[in-house]
Amino acid sequence: TAITAYRAAILHSLGDPTQVGLEDSYAYYEDGLLVVSEGLIADIGPAEQVLARLPAATPIIEFKDKLISAGFIDTHIHYPQTEMIASYGEQLLDWLNNYTFPEEGKFADPAHAARVASFFLDELLRNGTTTAMVFGTVHKASVEAFFTESDKRNMRMIAGKVMMDRNGPDYLLDTPESGYADSKALIERWHKQGRQLYAVTPRFAPTSTEAQLAMAGRLLAEYDDVYLQTHLSENKQEIEWVKSLFPERSGYLDVYDHFNLLGERSVFAHAVHLEQEECERMGETDSVISFCPTSNLFLGSGLLDLPKVESHGIRVGLGTDVGGGTSFSMLRTIAEAYKIQQLQEHKLHPIKALYLATLGGARSLSLDDKIGNLSIGKEADFLVLDLHATPLMDARINNSQHLFERLFVLMMLGDDRAVSETYIYGKRQYQK
Ligand code: GUN
Ligand code: FE
Repeated sequence: TAITAYRAAILHSLGDPTQVGLEDSYAYYEDGLLVVSEGLIADIGPAEQVLARLPAATPIIEFKDKLISAGFIDTHIHYPQTEMIASYGEQLLDWLNNYTFPEEGKFADPAHAARVASFFLDELLRNGTTTAMVFGTVHKASVEAFFTESDKRNMRMIAGKVMMDRNGPDYLLDTPESGYADSKALIERWHKQGRQLYAVTPRFAPTSTEAQLAMAGRLLAEYDDVYLQTHLSENKQEIEWVKSLFPERSGYLDVYDHFNLLGERSVFAHAVHLEQEECERMGETDSVISFCPTSNLFLGSGLLDLPKVESHGIRVGLGTDVGGGTSFSMLRTIAEAYKIQQLQEHKLHPIKALYLATLGGARSLSLDDKIGNLSIGKEADFLVLDLHATPLMDARINNSQHLFERLFVLMMLGDDRAVSETYIYGKRQYQK
């Protein structure tokens, strides 16, 4: 049957270096062999050793001077905002009103949704992103279109229909009842259909009534393995607005907590301005933060203190947050994450950054039994990287000695140009 081996340098994450120490947190094979059978990883290791136990006549594909990595995992992104990326001049609330809402209005047209979903998924593949947690729009058909395209490519995606029933333009509002019914129908149709998974998606506290947040909680109670995705503590004006809308709650996180929206499958984008008690509560409930560096800089939102939130036991993944973020590339996202930590006098080691973009993302999405690295038995989502993709990268890499230095240079200078090929469930879905 379909068994193929891939020969190149291989690097993958084995654990969080903050928890297990640097040496135990990754595996690197300078001349490695990755064996894929029926879409799953069947073997991995130094080529010499793996070749000795490889079934006879297994085809071997060799990538010269390339690096194989597990696919990148983007824990927060909005597919309908693809064509409004890089909208000028505003911070969050005006950016939403002036640019985002009108753009999302276009997704009332299913043909538009299908076209953008297809472009978006191809853009993820071009950037080596194999799994993402994705917002649709308020329109049920936007998510129908998304899952249809994602299922075609066999990509492991988590997505949901936005629930928003106030403080937006009329053409983007649902109701507590319709938001519930549409979400439920999408769960029944798509959750665990192939590799697709569903996330209940209240946009953020200001655009949902209490009745709607209660409905979101009801969906989570009815389906114990669906996800929740939303936004949290992104912008100072936003936080003040939430406090004025929900005066009876002790803070922003408490709004979500009150409606039972916290938990191990709940992913909160941004969370850059959390109070001490909110950090504690996030940790206690095993809730997740999606760290969105390019967005937090572009919208002038704030700087996530990564060591601080991790010290509370909070799982953290990386997100591009396109179109608030400015790039689909997880490499560029890592570069901005590094600079945000620098501004706070923290170091972000390249192996830790690799962890955040792969295995840490998988853990944040409770999918580390299936994806996140290239361990035997996992789904074969991987990419082939070219560290010599541009003249400057080539010159700088040729002047690098250690693996960590080369990886760091890839992360600071690399983007989609460094992605040569992307494989989904053992099948090549992109080639540069
Ligand atoms: N908060 C509520 N909606 C959005 C959105 O679309 N993008 C970002 N970055 N923050 C939000
Ligand atoms: Fe977002």
